[in-house]
Amino acid sequence: MSKSNIFIANWKMNLSVDEDVILSIKLKESLAENNSVTTVICPPFTHLYSIKNILSGSNILLGAQDMSWMGKGSFTGEIAPFMLKEMGVQYVVIGHSERRLNLKETDEMINKKIKSALRTDLIPILCVGETFEERQQGRKDFVIAGQVESAFAKIQLNGKKIAVAYEPVWVIGSGQAVKIDEAEHAVRVIKQVLLDISPDIDLKNDVDILYGGSVDSKNISYFTESKLINGVLVGGASLDHEEFVKMIKIMNK
Ligand code: PGA
Repeated sequence: MSKSNIFIANWKMNLSVDEDVILSIKLKESLAENNSVTTVICPPFTHLYSIKNILSGSNILLGAQDMSWMGKGSFTGEIAPFMLKEMGVQYVVIGHSERRLNLKETDEMINKKIKSALRTDLIPILCVGETFEERQQGRKDFVIAGQVESAFAKIQLNGKKIAVAYEPVWVIGSGQAVKIDEAEHAVRVIKQVLLDISPDIDLKNDVDILYGGSVDSKNISYFTESKLINGVLVGGASLDHEEFVKMIKIMNK
C-alpha cells in the first residue's frame, strides 16, 4: 500500500463541456469501487454545473482551477469563492505557473487568493516551482521557498487543510517528469518553509504535498511510493479515461 492518497486532475482549457461530461460519467463508473484515493477533478468553470450533477453520489470530488479573492461585486469576468461553493467545489488550484507566467499573477495576488479560499473553507492547492532559467541559475530552492513563504504570509492556518504542489515549470507538459530525488528535495524545502512560518502546523494531518509535471501511468509510482509525497497533480494524462483509471489503480495498490 503506497502512502500517497490524493490525485488532483487539472483539466485546464482543453475539452468541450460534452467531452468533459462524458469523461466524468466514465470516471464515475470506473472508480465506483475499490478506490481509496481522494480523487479530485478540476474542470473549467463553465463545466462545473453539469459535472457537479454527474458526480453527486460518487467518490470523486470537484475542484476549480482558480478563483477571485474578492467576495462579490463589480469584478467583470471573475468567479467568487461562494460561486464555487455553490457548484460543490471543495478544492481550488491557486498560483499555477501558467497563470503566474502568462497572466502575470503575482505573489501578492496568490496570497490574497489563499486567504480568501481558507476563509470560505475551500482547500487551496498552491502550485510552486522554478522555471528552467531559475534552475540553471542555481536559484531553485530559493524560488520555491519564496513562493511558499509569500503565499502563506500573514495567514493563520488554525488547523485548516492545505495542499502544496511542487511543479517544476520546465517539465509541465513536456512528457518528462523530474527524478524522484529532485522532487523529494523540493518537498523537504516546502515542508521546512511551512514549519518556519507556521511552527504549530500539523504537517502530517493538515498538509498534502503533491508532485506535478508530466505525471502518467508509467512514472506515477515513483512519486506515489515516496514517503514524503502525499499525491499528484496531473494535467495531460488525466484527460484520457484509460490513463486516469490506470493511475488511480496504481495508487490503490
Ligand atoms: P502535465 O500538467 O501533467 O500535463 O504536465 C501538470 C500541471 O500543469 O498541473
